[in-house]
Amino acid sequence: NSIKIFSPATVANVSCGFDVLGFCLDSIGDEMIIHKTSEKGITITKIEGYDLPYEATKNVAGVSALAMYEALQPDCGFAIEIYKKIKPGSGIGSSSASAVGSIFGMNELLGKPLDKTALTKYALKGEAIASQSEHADNLAPAIFGGFTLVRSVNPVDVLQLPTPNDLFATLIHPQIEIKTSVSRAILPETVNLKSAITQWSNVGSLVHALHTNDYEVLSKSLNDVIIEPYRKQMIPHFATIKKAALESGALGCGISGSGPSIFALSKGKDTALGIEKAFQNMYSKTDIEFNTFVSKIN
Ligand code: HSE
Repeated sequence: NSIKIFSPATVANVSCGFDVLGFCLDSIGDEMIIHKTSEKGITITKIEGYDLPYEATKNVAGVSALAMYEALQPDCGFAIEIYKKIKPGSGIGSSSASAVGSIFGMNELLGKPLDKTALTKYALKGEAIASQSEHADNLAPAIFGGFTLVRSVNPVDVLQLPTPNDLFATLIHPQIEIKTSVSRAILPETVNLKSAITQWSNVGSLVHALHTNDYEVLSKSLNDVIIEPYRKQMIPHFATIKKAALESGALGCGISGSGPSIFALSKGKDTALGIEKAFQNMYSKTDIEFNTFVSKIN
């Protein structure tokens, strides 16, 4: 009557696919233990790692759990223990991991009445209180795995994309917090047509590259001419890091989600580890604390 969940960190946007593309990381994520209780309702009984609210209506994991609970009205309740490993405001889907973990565990304990699309729908409710916007580009890869493209959030429609065999991500997380709501507020409401054309040609090419294992096209598509120009100012040493990644053989490098984490993609683990070294060398010259990691994309 209990289940332990690993809820993975994710990289949203993947440069050109703002609010649409994302991929899952396997080396970092939150842990949760969900218990079925005879007492009805949703309670959060333990939170370790970061200081987050225990009140279910104020906690991302609680809000998604309540949305699912109210829809299914099961004959039991759930108690949630959260072991938060992903720092909130890090740009690698901290709120999404919370929103997904609770309902994924509840669904398992109830005998899987919901499919992945329905889980995404309830997870969106949790994500919305964290970022004040309903986008599923972090949620979908956490639920479906690998690369995903969110074709629509209302109704939820997620496409699972294939991942080339040898694709690795290197991440650097500067220890500053950027709230998604803040990094969304600085974005313009309209985009220039020429930039839009460049962006959607890159999204289409990137999806094609994933399907055809074409690393060259993948590399050419990893560009963001719409969002990155605004957000990069908020991320210390972004240009230097990007340059270091590309010089170390990265296919591309960009802001992970709404930042401050930065991701690079590469073919092969050795290149990914070389990029990690380059990130460490560069950032250790600054006075900002950071951590780095490499993850295979599955
Ligand atoms: N697509 C979202 C953004 C991801 O970039 O704002 C972060 O929640």
